[in-house]
Amino acid sequence: MIKLKNIVKTYDTPNGSVHALKDINLEIKRGEIYGIIGLSGAGKSTLVRCINMLERPTSGNVIVNGKDLTTMTESQLREARKDIGMIFQHFNLLSTSTVYDNIAFPLKLAGKSKEEIKAKVEPLLKLVGLENKAHQYPSQLSGGQKQRVGIARALANDTKVLLCDEATSALDPQTTKAILELIRDINKKLQLTVVVITHEMQVIKDLCDKVAVLDHGVIAENGTVLEIFTNPKEPITKEFMSVLSSNELPAAYRNGKVHKEYIKDATMLLRLTFIGESADNPVIAGLIRKFPELDISILFGDLSQIQMVQFGRMIIGLDGKEDQIKDAIKSLMEQDLKVEVIGYVQRRTHATA
Ligand SMILES: Nc1ncnc2c1ncn2[C@@H]1O[C@H](COP(=O)(O)OP(=O)(O)O)[C@@H](O)[C@H]1O
Ligand SMILES: [Mg+2]
Repeated sequence: MIKLKNIVKTYDTPNGSVHALKDINLEIKRGEIYGIIGLSGAGKSTLVRCINMLERPTSGNVIVNGKDLTTMTESQLREARKDIGMIFQHFNLLSTSTVYDNIAFPLKLAGKSKEEIKAKVEPLLKLVGLENKAHQYPSQLSGGQKQRVGIARALANDTKVLLCDEATSALDPQTTKAILELIRDINKKLQLTVVVITHEMQVIKDLCDKVAVLDHGVIAENGTVLEIFTNPKEPITKEFMSVLSSNELPAAYRNGKVHKEYIKDATMLLRLTFIGESADNPVIAGLIRKFPELDISILFGDLSQIQMVQFGRMIIGLDGKEDQIKDAIKSLMEQDLKVEVIGYVQRRTHATA
């Protein structure tokens, strides 16, 4: 549905050239929800603005729905842009227009009649759950309701692609969840292709099918959300993941130096990742039964779902003899789960002020 080929975007500024995007290649299929995550300044907004040509790439091709936007005239582009809707962090609504008129705005621009507009706007109001707010003004709405108006407006022209630039970054966590659910719901109902720009891994986890990690204008890695979450490869991806699971270790371990080699009276820390059915296996019970002399402690545990697949993470501590610890790790590795050795950490049993 969307193909980006060798996209380069360089801004010339008085202080020299800014290389915002360097040779981006990306393919987004029809009906996919594709996340693009990156730190501030990574080039996310530039990338998403290249997709609807609000920003013209310095070189490369943008192909949407089989048509190359980079070779179009302005009037062809205006027509092609009707397929692409966009929502923003700060909603960008017309403050002097009602909800109804905000949603009707792109239809008026397209020269539709009053009746045609009504026939479009009413079902859209219903779709985003604002039937009873049609005649209110943006200032009378909550942030979540404003974004619902933004979404309805973005869909008014029978849009095929929805671009979301930090669409939930100004919203509280509960409202974010509701808006993400709405986007997912609309994606299914309308077979809409969605591109989600965010700096939050949680948004990727809750909403997206696939994700690309953008770092200094380059795609560091991309894949299905499940692949990236269960097996992040690049340091930048691991950093985003660690935000999601920050503070996963109890305080007594958090600041201890991690030793690669066995040290006496230290705890061996292991991170276990369970995917799919392996999340149901009694792994810890099995370990206790097999190694009764080891002390096994669960230091962190989390079970969630990514794209309907169970995804569990756990950090356990093993205390005991070195050879037994090694055998226990080996036994875990033979099972259907991912085992990462964090290292040996001296436990500080007495908290110091
Ligand atoms: N119009 C512009 N003129 C000059 N530099 C720009 C312009 N827009 C963005 N940039 C620069 O391009 C880089 C990427 O910006 P942006 O795409 O907004 O990143 P993000 O959305 O990931 O925070 C930044 O270094 C930014 O300063
Ligand atoms: Mg941005």
